[in-house]
Amino acid sequence: MLLREIKNIFHSELDVLYGKDEVSSFFYMLIEHYFNLERFVLAIQPELVIDKEQETVIFNALAELKLEHPIQHIIGSSHFMDMDFKVNPHVLIPRPETEELVRWVIEDNEKAELPLAILDMGTGSGCIPISLTKYLPNANIFGLDISLDALEVAQENNKIHGTKVEFFQADILNLNHKNNYDIIVSNPPYVRELEKAEMQKNVIDHEPSIALFVPDEDPLKFYRAIVNFASRHLNDKGSLYLEINQYLGNEMIEFLQKYEFHTIKLKQDIYGNDRMLKGIIR
Ligand SMILES: C[S@@+](CC[C@H](N)C(=O)[O-])C[C@H]1O[C@@H](n2cnc3c(N)ncnc32)[C@H](O)[C@@H]1O
Repeated sequence: MLLREIKNIFHSELDVLYGKDEVSSFFYMLIEHYFNLERFVLAIQPELVIDKEQETVIFNALAELKLEHPIQHIIGSSHFMDMDFKVNPHVLIPRPETEELVRWVIEDNEKAELPLAILDMGTGSGCIPISLTKYLPNANIFGLDISLDALEVAQENNKIHGTKVEFFQADILNLNHKNNYDIIVSNPPYVRELEKAEMQKNVIDHEPSIALFVPDEDPLKFYRAIVNFASRHLNDKGSLYLEINQYLGNEMIEFLQKYEFHTIKLKQDIYGNDRMLKGIIR
């Protein structure tokens, strides 16, 4: 079958679900992933034929897209900070907002002379500490998560990228820990159940709810534990960087003040939503 005919089938079956541009983007991601073909291939080889085996692979992917499986689960990876991270249904698919948090940590710390000790709390795929390692090569970086399945993915990403982040299992809400750090970073679960209505179905159906949701009546439960932990386990002048729920920026500032963080800064993401917070201790 001609590759361009398959592209047309993708559009006729999927445009109603995702829109034309997104379907084109999925199609090109898939042919690059499965057949190593670059996106301009159809412009230079409009008559390119793919064989039966390749047809099966690409039509299976089409069937999964029709079921609204995330494209990152179909190809098994997600792009973050110019790196590809393995993902599966046990980990959150890394988000562009989180890249902004990572860039903030890098900007503030790339000139540090002494090796920094950094902890990522709720590490998921390990995208935060692994990408920090690439940009802050002298740092000693650790990542914790409660989910052993997530930690397995994080370890695989460590191997894929040749990094040496130390991952360990721990519960943010019940953490007994001796070490101190210069930087603590976290993108914990922060979506209230009441916000589910605003979310896309494929996120609710296919991403781990343990990574996303907090109870409506206690939306700050992870932040309370993280800020309390950070106030005790950050070295003097250590920094805490948090990704936050856009609706809870003011509460979060008050929270950091209560724990005596200073030089508190709130930053917006590319969509203009309050999304990141930094504070310094002592
Ligand atoms: C929003 S996801 C962030 C994942 C990753 N850091 C990222 O930014 O893509 C939150 C992570 O916190 C983990 N988590 C949930 N409850 C936890 C707990 N009680 N203790 C430790 N980690 C927890 C989840 O397994 C998930 O990996």
